[in-house]
Amino acid sequence: MSHRIEQGDWLEFAPSLPRNSVDLLYADPPFNTGKTQSAGAGSYHDSWATTGDWVAWLRERLEATLPALKPTASILLHIDWRTSHHARVLLDELLGADRFVNHLVWMYGLGGSSPRRFARKHDDILFYCLEPGAYYFDPPMVPATSRRMRGGLKKATDVIDIPSLNNMASERVGYPTQKPLALLGMLVGACCPPAGTVLDPCCGSGTTLVAARGLGRNAIGCDRSPDAVELATRRLTEA
Ligand SMILES: C[S@@+](CC[C@H](N)C(=O)[O-])C[C@H]1O[C@@H](n2cnc3c(N)ncnc32)[C@H](O)[C@@H]1O
Repeated sequence: MSHRIEQGDWLEFAPSLPRNSVDLLYADPPFNTGKTQSAGAGSYHDSWATTGDWVAWLRERLEATLPALKPTASILLHIDWRTSHHARVLLDELLGADRFVNHLVWMYGLGGSSPRRFARKHDDILFYCLEPGAYYFDPPMVPATSRRMRGGLKKATDVIDIPSLNNMASERVGYPTQKPLALLGMLVGACCPPAGTVLDPCCGSGTTLVAARGLGRNAIGCDRSPDAVELATRRLTEA
């Protein structure tokens, strides 16, 4: 299996990708939280003047990446309540509303509580395909909860219950908003064929790339932050 990681802006990186070469685009961009995300191993800017600016930023980058996707490819866009409604409209416009497959809810448990509203405990992952009849999907299996199927497995639903990484988690590398390998393993296994190619153009600490490699998929990553690229490269080498 091969891997490639580059430091730079997704927009400038995208045209360097060979046409029709990517099976799965997973993007976990900044969520427009209005602050700089910082942790021990790095930081990144996460603020746009308006939501419209954030949408325009994303639109350019998705458009630049589409030529690299195979006709059988899928897109998973990981965002949250701040932008998911805008991102859904954007993807409907770029790909066609009939390319929508799922609105996945990643239910993670930690954080988000307030006395003034229901606790915010999930991210949104929009799943689109390029060709409704042609995209790859291998339904992930999760432990069954019903009494009838106890001890067995059932197909996962669009609500994914995987804890976020706590401060003591052994896989934590100290990069802000690092996602769990269990989540990326589930997504990559479900949406990228064996030996296929996964692209993560905002790869951060490289979680997607490590998951892809562990599952026998090729991995391509890019990030604007040199700290992120260094971490992702180290994690991939150690994997
Ligand atoms: C939400 S974090 C990704 C976290 C990653 N999934 C992980 O598990 O570590 C978003 C990443 O996007 C990167 N980023 C922001 N703007 C970018 C751009 N224009 N091109 C490439 N990467 C960018 C940031 O440096 C940051 O690492």
